[in-house]
Formats: sequence, C-alpha cells, structure tokens
Amino acid sequence: MMKSTGLILFASCTPKISVTIKSHRRLSSNIFYGNSTKARKLFAYNQKRQLNRKHVMVAARYLPPLFSVAPMMDWTDNHYRTLARLISKHAWLYTEMLAAKTIVNQKGSLDKFLAYTSEQHPVVLQIGGSNLEDLAKAAELANAYCYDEINFNCGCPSPKVAGHGCFGVRLMLDPEFVAEAMSVIAANSDAPVSVKCRIGVDDHDSYNELCEFIYKVSSRSPTRHFIIHSRKALLNGISPADNRKIPPLKYEYYYALLRDFPDLRLTINGGINGVDEVNAARMEGAHGVMVGRAAYNNPWYTLGHVDTAVYGEPCTDLTRRQVLEKYMVYGDSIMRKYGHKPTIRDVVKPLLGLFHSEPGNGLWKRKVDAVLRHCPTMKFFLEETLVAIPDSVLDSTVGEAPSGCIDTFVKLKGILPPPYTAREYEALYA
Ligand SMILES: Cc1cc2nc3c(=O)[nH]c(=O)nc-3n(C[C@H](O)[C@H](O)[C@H](O)COP(=O)(O)O)c2cc1C
Repeated sequence: MMKSTGLILFASCTPKISVTIKSHRRLSSNIFYGNSTKARKLFAYNQKRQLNRKHVMVAARYLPPLFSVAPMMDWTDNHYRTLARLISKHAWLYTEMLAAKTIVNQKGSLDKFLAYTSEQHPVVLQIGGSNLEDLAKAAELANAYCYDEINFNCGCPSPKVAGHGCFGVRLMLDPEFVAEAMSVIAANSDAPVSVKCRIGVDDHDSYNELCEFIYKVSSRSPTRHFIIHSRKALLNGISPADNRKIPPLKYEYYYALLRDFPDLRLTINGGINGVDEVNAARMEGAHGVMVGRAAYNNPWYTLGHVDTAVYGEPCTDLTRRQVLEKYMVYGDSIMRKYGHKPTIRDVVKPLLGLFHSEPGNGLWKRKVDAVLRHCPTMKFFLEETLVAIPDSVLDSTVGEAPSGCIDTFVKLKGILPPPYTAREYEALYA
C-alpha cells in the first residue's frame, strides 16, 4: 500500500506539477511542521518511523545488501539478472539505468522496461532524470512492479546523460535538487530509496564537498542508503569507460563517510573484483559492497562464491551445465516476446563471460560468433557451441572461495581525511 505522507498518487484530473511541488515542500521544508526545534524533531521522527517501516519490510524478506551487482547500462538487463540469480541466491541485483522520461513515455508498454521474474528478488530499479514531475510519475508507475529499492543515478558521466541538463553525475553539484528528487521518488514508492554517486566531479573533489552533498541529501529527504563509487568523474569529454579507470580510486573517502555519517547505510563500489576483496572491505566496516564489471565479465567466479563466502549460506550447488539448462528454458520463453526483441544475441550476451579463463573458452567464443548467424533457439545454440568446453568445466560446481590476504582497506586508516562537521547543522543549532 502507498504510504500516506508526502506526495499522494496523482488524481487524473489534478494538474500534476502543482501537486508534485506542493506536496514535496511538505517534506523538505518546515511549512507543515513549522520552525520550532520540537516540530523539526517531530518531522524527523515521523520520517524515520516511515523509513524504518520500509526497511523492516524489505529486510524481513531478504538478507541485507552485503553484496550487490552494480547497475550497468546494456549489461544488467533482465537476461543478465536471470543468469546472475541462477548463480547467487542472495546477491542484490540492480537494473541498468532507466530514464524517468522513458518510463513515463512508455506507459503503454511498461512491461518491456520494468517487468522481471519473481526469482530476481532482491532487485533494485535504478532511475535517472532531472525533472521532478517525470521522477514522481516514473516512481509511481514502477511501484506496481514491486522493486525492493529505487536507486537514483547521480554518478553517470556519459555526455549523453550529463549533457541533458543536470542529469547523472552533474546532479552532485545540486544537492538541493537531489534531495527534492529523492523526496518525490520516495513519496511515490513503497520501496526504500537510495542514491548512487561518485566522490566528486572535476575540481569539486574535496572530502568536504562530498560530505556537503551527502549531508544535504540525507537531511532533506528520506535517503538513508548511499552507494559510493569511490572515484570522481571528469566531465572534460573523456569516455564513460575511461571515467571508470582514469580518476584514481579513493576508498579513504568512503571510510571517512562511514565514520562521519554513522546513521546512514553506505555501500562501497569501484575496482572490487572478488569475494575476498568484498570481505576485506567488510572487515574494515563497509556495510555493503557493490561489484560491477567483475560480476559481468566473470560471473561464475565472482557471483558463485557470494552465498557462501559473503552470506555464510549454502550455495546453489549448480554446475555450469545445469545453470545453462535453466537459462535455456528462460531464453527460449522470452525470445521475440516484444516484436523482434529480444533477439538470440540479446539473450546469449550475458553468457559470454561464463567460461572466463577456462580451457575451451577461445574456441567456444569463435563457435558462438559463427552459430549466432543462423541460430533459431537457445537449445540449438547450446548444442552447437558447448562441444568446445570440456565436461570437467561444465560439470563442476564453483569450488572453494578464494581466501587471499588483502590489505587494501586496512591501510586506509592512516590516511582518512579530517572529520566533517556539517556547516548547516552548526548554523541551525549554534
Ligand atoms: C557498461 C557499464 C555500464 C554502466 N552503466 C551504469 C548505469 O547505468 N548506472 C550507474 O549508476 N552506473 C553505471 N556503471 C558504473 C557501474 O555501476 C560501477 O559504478 C562502475 O563500473 C564501478 O564499479 P566496478 O569497478 O566494480 O566495475 C556502468 C558501468 C559499466 C561498465
């Protein structure tokens, strides 16, 4: 059921924008609660109670997001998420970013963008946008799909995104807007909300500026979960791919946030490649760890150990052959569901990393290329290509988790930036 505070679902005859702004002000300013300290405390209390209810709802159903797979455009689509869920039962899965405008404009064919199978839970929808009305409407439309969290993209440096007004990582320069956006999204959704951001943009890269962003967004909206991609973004025209490698990782900013914002849930992201690194980050206090490229490029080893090594739960115990048999059933059922989409290529794409570094992988990839030119079904695809992979690879389970000694996060303690004190907070309560 939709919560009652904040923005109520639009009535069809109501002018939408006026409702959005008016209701949102109740959340972000003191119009409703007045200016006294008591009223402010009441507002904060009510907000926290509402949040706790949401978090309890989600936490009761799933293990917490100790490990999550990052949102990745064109990668973490339904097909990839289906494969990932066959390998790990507990990893949280993020969708690729969907623009709020796309959701709003595709009202007639929302399933194509938002539907997923129930096995995919816990699953998080990431949205992007810079128009409050679109964000409100998109959250409202997505609510029917029961995502476990709605995440707002404040980290994408792509010129395609960042160039369209204030969108993606540029939003880090406007925390007031992000707070408004998060309030509007939360008010239209039953799911908890989160923000994924970088540690800075161009020259706005001091720890203090990052803290100002986190502080403003968390104190003016119901956002209690931030995912910190621990490198800044450069908006000087370098490609999105370079923006994921050139700016150096500064995990010390993340660990300083853990120290300075003890009431928030903070997930670390960037450059983390396996469960041994995930556990090393968690040993130093990280609440959650998000892994992107490694989970896509090498899903078997990256995700295969998550249930046991991160969650301490039994793993699926499936072999790759069994995973592929299940994935084949999914693939053949979904193909061409929406006109000519998805194609066999779309469905096969997430499998390309499944035999990463294994004997037969090169030959398999060459067969994949050839077979995809004339391939009617997943069944046919697997029959024609899997001959390249030895049975020993296809029929073994994931095996022991790596247990290297990783000191990347231990040595950060000595280089944390000085503690942050919120300027606004000081001014208000001095
Ligand atoms: C192909 C690709 C697409 C991405 N798309 C998104 C996206 O839609 N939204 C987002 O917040 N981040 C996106 N990212 C960034 C990842 O979520 C993640 O923050 C980044 O890859 C760093 O994590 P990693 O080092 O574990 O890969 C994308 C990354 C890749 C490689």
